[in-house]
Amino acid sequence: MSEPVYILGIETSCDETGCAVVADGREVLSNTVATQIDLHARFGGIVPEIASRAHIEAINTVIETALRDSPVGSGQIDAIAVTNEPGLIGSLLVGLMAAKTAALVWSAPLIAVNHIYAHAYAPALNDDPIEYPAAALICSGGHTALYRLESPTELELLGATIDDAAGEAFDKVASILRLGYPGGPAIDAAARHADPRAVDFPRPLLKGESLDFSFSGLKTAVLYHVNGVPGAIRGARSQAPSKRGIESFSPQEVADIAASFQAAVVDVLRIKLRRAAKLTGAKTLILGGGVSANSALRSAAGELADELHCSLRLPQLQFCLDNAAMIAGLGYHYFRAGRFADLDLEARPTVRR
Ligand code: KG4
Ligand code: ZN
Repeated sequence: MSEPVYILGIETSCDETGCAVVADGREVLSNTVATQIDLHARFGGIVPEIASRAHIEAINTVIETALRDSPVGSGQIDAIAVTNEPGLIGSLLVGLMAAKTAALVWSAPLIAVNHIYAHAYAPALNDDPIEYPAAALICSGGHTALYRLESPTELELLGATIDDAAGEAFDKVASILRLGYPGGPAIDAAARHADPRAVDFPRPLLKGESLDFSFSGLKTAVLYHVNGVPGAIRGARSQAPSKRGIESFSPQEVADIAASFQAAVVDVLRIKLRRAAKLTGAKTLILGGGVSANSALRSAAGELADELHCSLRLPQLQFCLDNAAMIAGLGYHYFRAGRFADLDLEARPTVRR
């Protein structure tokens, strides 16, 4: 039997500093994540300058920890995989610099990995290989996109958000409802004991066969529900509450709004994933990105997979959020294909279609 291939992954595209060592693209030997959530929480969102600075402070320790936690030393690392797109430019650059330095010092080749493609690979970590073709729905704080996958490295973008990402909508609505940051887990928890039919929020972009998403109108609908429609006569719309401002809602009413918002997002995501699966003849449905931790979305996707006779691949919770194991895991497939990057590899902050 041949020796396993050990890839060290580095992830710094947003607000988590991550490093991981993965064997043969599947077995996660170590996975270190330094989260910055506390630093950004008081601003209600990610502040790019604070994120880059925190990555600089954390990156060396995170790499050292990932190596220490894994049974392999730096001398056994076969390649360094790094996220070079998409993400915050300052944040991406920190990981890229660290990866290039490690590649140079350890004489290991460099591999460029797209963060969103890596989310679509996350269900294969510490688990069985994914069966292709697959339809993947990747929802995070920065992205909401549907892909057709022929293999871990062959992806076709089918649709994406035209404004806010799903996770961003969760975060903004949680801020409107004063449920805290990050908003996704807070809304998920609040919605557990609440009525998802309490408010009939819009389900955007469902007409026609579009596979694009739009969540900014839904976010505004929640804002108007809470604060009233600017210039509207009080109580004129049957949906509009007679109250104004979040303080005038009881905790149960706030939870009901959260549950109704979540139900609208999950409906849209489920219907579009269904369209994508039918269009592509997918054998497998994949969920990825931070929002794939959402309990309502996970169960809706499970029902959809049953209906379509597909298998559903969900990442383990630790691999739903940003992490470097998914970068190292997907990096292995580029390693096998001989797709290496030069040391002048650039960061690409925006999504490449
Ligand atoms: O993938 P991720 O860690 O970072 C980005 O690449 O953006 O995703 C973070 C996003 C945040 O917007 C967070 O609110 C959302 O994922 N999120 C959730 C849940 N857990 C995290 N959204 C809905 N329900 C959850 N349980
Ligand atoms: Zn992500």
